[in-house]
Amino acid sequence: MKTLFDETQLSGLNLKNRFVRSATHDGRADALGHVTQELIEHYEELAKGGVGTIITGLTNVTDIEKIVPTQMAIYDDSFIAEYKKLTDAVHRYDVNIFVQLVCNGVQSSSKNPGALWAPSAIEGEPTVAGATEMTKADIQSMKDAFVNGAIRAKRAGFDGVQLHVAHGYLLSRFLTPYYNRRTDEYGGTTENRARVVLEICRDIKEAVGSEYPVLAKINCDDFMDEGLAFAECKRICKMLEAAGLSAIEISGGSALSRPNEGVIRKVTPDTESYFKQYAEDLAEALNIPVICVGGHRDINKLREIVSNTKIEYFSLCRPFIREPYLINRWASGDTSPAKCISCTKCFGVPTQCIFNK
Ligand SMILES: Cc1cc2nc3c(=O)[nH]c(=O)nc-3n(C[C@H](O)[C@H](O)[C@H](O)COP(=O)(O)O)c2cc1C
Ligand code: SF4
Repeated sequence: MKTLFDETQLSGLNLKNRFVRSATHDGRADALGHVTQELIEHYEELAKGGVGTIITGLTNVTDIEKIVPTQMAIYDDSFIAEYKKLTDAVHRYDVNIFVQLVCNGVQSSSKNPGALWAPSAIEGEPTVAGATEMTKADIQSMKDAFVNGAIRAKRAGFDGVQLHVAHGYLLSRFLTPYYNRRTDEYGGTTENRARVVLEICRDIKEAVGSEYPVLAKINCDDFMDEGLAFAECKRICKMLEAAGLSAIEISGGSALSRPNEGVIRKVTPDTESYFKQYAEDLAEALNIPVICVGGHRDINKLREIVSNTKIEYFSLCRPFIREPYLINRWASGDTSPAKCISCTKCFGVPTQCIFNK
């Protein structure tokens, strides 16, 4: 029977337990996305806390888009040596680290100049304000940027990369019928809307070697009208598996999600592990490992899920902001639930729990 502290293998990597720090914008890079000493120390702290695998905050692959100041980036080779220091610091604690690669699209509150890419420009839709409909050349630059980001990540010592295909960021908007109204080969059918993600996945594998782990975080459902729905997500996950994806993290929601069905939800004992049913279903349907994110707070509930489902890994975000040492605490026998109260008041520069200020 599976347990939370099993040691497992993922594409040749050893994972010392089934806990993952889900990607979290840490607000600790500099204005151009470069690594700071504070960022390195932050990741070192997380690594000391017992989690088996860390996924970094969303890390921009281009220098064309608007990026949020303090958002990490990886758009040229000058980042390689900086990130090597960060990955070395994490590896000292026998912890794996993946970088989450992203194009923000229009989801950047930044006032910096830069492109606001979108699959389609939609007049009068506030969640696409200022968007430029991507040309084929833009799509090619974006794909190249993801591939170059992955090449740099490997050289910088990251154990793998995660494509951010969730939460309304650019790749996820290609999957969403409401946002993707293209009439070329990147819009229309499921295959067409998924094409860009599949091409990036295959191109990265070709560039860095098929054994290098490539993960994706995807929405099980956008929870909005004309959004990506679960049946289609499942088909896309199967396509990604066939394209060589190593593991998939199941999230959900975006800017237009219906109330209480967003990405980052209030968590009560009744709504814990809020994407569990989707992750469980996908874990039955796929042969690659499924990581379930969203509202995990109680180790006893997670024990039940891990032993009764095929879900392999559990990723957490807010609980680690309040308690970077949460997994050590649980491992030492203090199994009271995570102290995070899910108020989501942690966004800021830096990202920080209100109880730790
Ligand atoms: C401060 C903060 C920053 C986040 N940054 C990211 C991010 O960079 N990439 C991402 O995929 N999700 C991000 N998320 C979403 C989390 O990874 C996670 O999916 C969500 O918070 C639900 O998990 P939780 O209940 O464990 O917090 C962020 C959430 C918070 C609260
Ligand atoms: S600010 Fe609120 S949501 Fe964020 S870590 Fe602290 S308790 Fe959790």
